[in-house]
Amino acid sequence: MEFQIYTGNPSELQTDCLVVTLDSSNTLSASASDIDNASNGALQARVDGGDIKGTPGSSLTLYSLAGTAATRVVLTGTGEAPLNKVNANKVVTAVASAVAAKKGSAAVDLTSLASDEYPQAWWAEQLVLAIHAAQYQFTATVPGKEAKPELETLTWIGEDVSAELRVADAKGLGTSYAKELGNMPPNICTPSYLASESQKLSDAAGFTCKIYDEKEMEEMGAGAFYSVSKGSSEPGKLIIMEYKGAGDDAPHMLVGKGITFDTGGISLKPGAKMDEMKYDMCGAASVLGTMKTIAELKPAINVVAIITSAENMPAGDASKPGDVVTTLSGQTVEILNTDAEGRLVLCDALTLGIRDYQPATCVDVATLTGACMAALGKVNSGLFTTDDALAEELKSAGAYSGDRVWQLPLEDDYQSLLDSNFADIANIGGPLAGATTAACFLSRFTEGTRWAHVDIAGPAWGGDGTSKGATGRPVPLLTTYLLNKIQ
Ligand code: BES
Ligand code: MN
Ligand code: ZN
Repeated sequence: MEFQIYTGNPSELQTDCLVVTLDSSNTLSASASDIDNASNGALQARVDGGDIKGTPGSSLTLYSLAGTAATRVVLTGTGEAPLNKVNANKVVTAVASAVAAKKGSAAVDLTSLASDEYPQAWWAEQLVLAIHAAQYQFTATVPGKEAKPELETLTWIGEDVSAELRVADAKGLGTSYAKELGNMPPNICTPSYLASESQKLSDAAGFTCKIYDEKEMEEMGAGAFYSVSKGSSEPGKLIIMEYKGAGDDAPHMLVGKGITFDTGGISLKPGAKMDEMKYDMCGAASVLGTMKTIAELKPAINVVAIITSAENMPAGDASKPGDVVTTLSGQTVEILNTDAEGRLVLCDALTLGIRDYQPATCVDVATLTGACMAALGKVNSGLFTTDDALAEELKSAGAYSGDRVWQLPLEDDYQSLLDSNFADIANIGGPLAGATTAACFLSRFTEGTRWAHVDIAGPAWGGDGTSKGATGRPVPLLTTYLLNKIQ
């Protein structure tokens, strides 16, 4: 997508689709009035005639308006300013679907919506993300399904927000890439596939990329990782990508859970909706998506991205409930439930990453617990950390990007739920506080590091039936969080 900024009279702007707004008191915005004046009152006549009301997300398309250079004008309702989050989302989605449905060019004036909390730069960024979302289409395995035509040029009518438009474009690319990886069927998207995608991205972007296979992990002493990967004929992979944009600064680390299919293992899951466990690599997908954005923008920070990937299968050589394994940290784990596999692949990745890179901060992202989804649904991801400053950074990145997090407790009082009679720690904590005990488990492998855990079990995918699909979350959160670190 190319971007332009325009400050002239919108009626003179040549574009395939010009979007202007109408508020809840049925008042035309300044640009809408310009068009109305140029077209001898064509817009006001439709408003007076009741063809459109200014409710958030309503829209009316008008073709070949007299005195107007645009091919079509879309009048979009915005509701009452200042808009709340839900209405802002409705308006941005409606505008994006109006412009994304057409190829060629579009021009948009949302300046009437700008407020102190949501300035023009924010609207511009949200619009570009929404256009990427509207244009995303999974085609890889669907015969006859074609990609949607791409919007070539987007003109922003208003302030010079070109820097934000470019950043948002990169975030949108990263988010769509995460969706694509998440949606890919699990017979294609295996740990080896994630490794080759990481290598490809790294080669194109100049990242260093290290890939350990499961045998190397076992030899290294990563017994928790290996206890999950050994039950599958698809070899597990631990992938480390390194981006350097800030010399020798300590890097910011991201760690993504990449279980490319989670059957539960010997603690087998019920059959209903088990297909959805292909999304159990969405943490990894979001880390790769974030690195895609980093590759586009090359910001002045250092980032290390770790993807810990395996398939969790029941098999003759799969781990059994009761097995005790030794983690890379040296702590032993009693595997009481093989379906609590995410924390097993994550703990060794955390130990390895923290040991080898001494990161300034570490954020892991995982579809870790059904309990987190039960608590927060699909709106917020669960945030767990004992570092208040890191929590604030993630919460404000979430609020700004709309990719929200809600902090849940990670207090020492919960740690004893993981006590084991036969090892240092059990891999499950019983029926209570399941999302917190999972975070408690991970915390045992991060001591001394500024670390946060983001449980995306709810937000990672959505919809039902034919609308089912990966959301690309939390790429908007992670990219916003990382870019906020630039001094
Ligand atoms: N990948 C699942 C968590 C999950 C379930 C995410 C449903 C999204 C939707 C994870 O590996 C898992 O199975 N967790 C168990 C943990 C339990 C055995 C302590 C769970 O949540 O039931
Ligand atoms: Mn599981
Ligand atoms: Zn899982």
